[in-house]
Amino acid sequence: MKTVSLKLGKIFCNDSLIEVCNDAFNIRSYLQSKSCDANGRKCYDDPFYVCDLDNIIEKHLLFQNLLPRIKPFFAVKSNPNHVVIALLARLGVNFDCASKCEIETVLDLEVDPERIIFANPCKQESHVKYARGKNVRKMTFDSEGELYKVKENFPEAELVIRIKVDDSNSAYKLGRKFGASLESTQKLLQLAKDLDLNVIGVSFHVGTGCYDASLFYNAVKSAAAVFQQGDAIGYTFTLLDIGGGFPGIKNETISMENIAAQLNLSLTEFFPSERNLNIIAEPGKYFVESAFTLCCNVISVKEVDDRNKHFMYYLNDGVFSSFIGVLFAEKFKPFLLQESDSNLLFKSSLWGPTCDSSDCISEEIYLPKLSVRDWLYFKNMGAYTTCFASKFNGFNPPVIYYVSTNKIDSVFSVSFND
Ligand SMILES: Cc1ncc(COP(=O)(O)O)c(C=O)c1O
Repeated sequence: MKTVSLKLGKIFCNDSLIEVCNDAFNIRSYLQSKSCDANGRKCYDDPFYVCDLDNIIEKHLLFQNLLPRIKPFFAVKSNPNHVVIALLARLGVNFDCASKCEIETVLDLEVDPERIIFANPCKQESHVKYARGKNVRKMTFDSEGELYKVKENFPEAELVIRIKVDDSNSAYKLGRKFGASLESTQKLLQLAKDLDLNVIGVSFHVGTGCYDASLFYNAVKSAAAVFQQGDAIGYTFTLLDIGGGFPGIKNETISMENIAAQLNLSLTEFFPSERNLNIIAEPGKYFVESAFTLCCNVISVKEVDDRNKHFMYYLNDGVFSSFIGVLFAEKFKPFLLQESDSNLLFKSSLWGPTCDSSDCISEEIYLPKLSVRDWLYFKNMGAYTTCFASKFNGFNPPVIYYVSTNKIDSVFSVSFND
């Protein structure tokens, strides 16, 4: 990694500061310390994130335990944060990049190009040329046009055919945009062979926010059928890429353990371990969702006293920055940073800071009475949040503070005296 130096319980990682706390670290008191000055005065009001790097380390260990045959390639698109990428690179995780810029970000951290898959089936031509120049060889495709593009710009690329699988039980479906249907794969593989291209394997994505583990089982089964087509055409595939779709938090509908059980079963059945195969995944949400907590300030309050009596709270982060998920029907639950004097809850709505009326985080929510300068925090804000931040209306994205306990020592090969 470029710059990792130790300074009295702090690590600098690519110019970002990581505060190393003791094991008694508590996120709420840490958020409180960042929202006040040393005397407890509320003098700051800009929104901020806290990124708990231990959480990412724990996720990595869990992945290794549950899915020992599968090598994760972190989907950079979910959170292209330099510290997160540097940490994951140190842990031995590889990377799924969607564009030239993401490849650049990862290579800048001195990651070997072998550790990257360019997993966007529909790529810009100049990005393919860039990948060739940087020797990022693994890339996905799902159409004839892409094969001709690769033939012209990167004939020695290692191609992975992306197939369409059932994503009906996932919150964000990708199959409407990507993936070759199982009826078309034979023809596509034959064209690749005729063009003398090197196809090395099969990939799929069951959709982000998958809530049915059997989708993974069925997708592996479909991939096995395409491996057979490859065999018949004269390829010997060596790569199975099971994509993303893993949950970032424990929830009542699905767990990583459920998915691992289905995946391990399907791998044993369709890809027994005697077969010399690299199995990779592209988890995005899984690694980052629970690691980030967002703290926003209440910047304005209105009491609306018409038939729909309620309080309107304006926060300094909204739909054009961290809360874009609202547009896809995601619900966000706020917590109060300060103690409330009363248990009474009032009908309220939460709004972002811009002058746009679609900038609404929550239309109806019950909250204690809040005042200007109060802080609300939102857990599990690490996936598909910071990467969408715009500067619409001149609001800058929140700053990010990084914390860890001394779990981080071994990752960055440093030790602390205190
Ligand atoms: C090709 C590809 N891989 C991986 C991911 C990451 O998915 P998730 O965040 O569900 O793990 C995505 C998300 O869009 C994707 O398009």
